[in-house]
Amino acid sequence: MQQFFFQRLKNLSNNKFSTNPENKLFKMGDIKQIFNKYPEAGRDNLIPILQDIQSVDGYLSKESIIKVGAHLDIPSSKIFGVATFYNQFRFQPNGKYHVQVCRGTACHVLGSVTVLQEIEKQLKVKAGDTTRDGLFSIEVVACIGACGLAPVIAINGEFYAKVSAASLAEIIESYKNKEDE
Ligand code: FES
Repeated sequence: MQQFFFQRLKNLSNNKFSTNPENKLFKMGDIKQIFNKYPEAGRDNLIPILQDIQSVDGYLSKESIIKVGAHLDIPSSKIFGVATFYNQFRFQPNGKYHVQVCRGTACHVLGSVTVLQEIEKQLKVKAGDTTRDGLFSIEVVACIGACGLAPVIAINGEFYAKVSAASLAEIIESYKNKEDE
């Protein structure tokens, strides 16, 4: 099992895991600010620590996970294994345009599965990932409180109602066009 996690961690290091330490914690130069919140930190504090890191950086970088491992004396592979078990954790920074796809009940009934598949197809990345150019990221979220407009997506907080494959193409294109202006 441990072998599997090491392999997965290695794969992510090569392909998916952001290794760029250009995040806020590393810019501040001190992840210890978070560690200091948990003076007697043990394994029980792992999830809260990861949550705190993600709340600052928006994701868990490889560097952060290694530092947490060293702090809690837990192998990085194990931390990664735990973190991937929870949907809440991301391993790449959000794109410039962060696409949230609602998968709440009303949106589900009205086709959010197809909406998500269409967005993944158009952006060529899966939910939880960021496009190589850093422009778009996709996140699946629970009800975002606009059920009357289902199926709904939000991009950087701006809502798009009753989306379809055709309207999604236009919406995404409009964001790409912003880059050409
Ligand atoms: S279920 Fe999608 S907005 Fe409520």
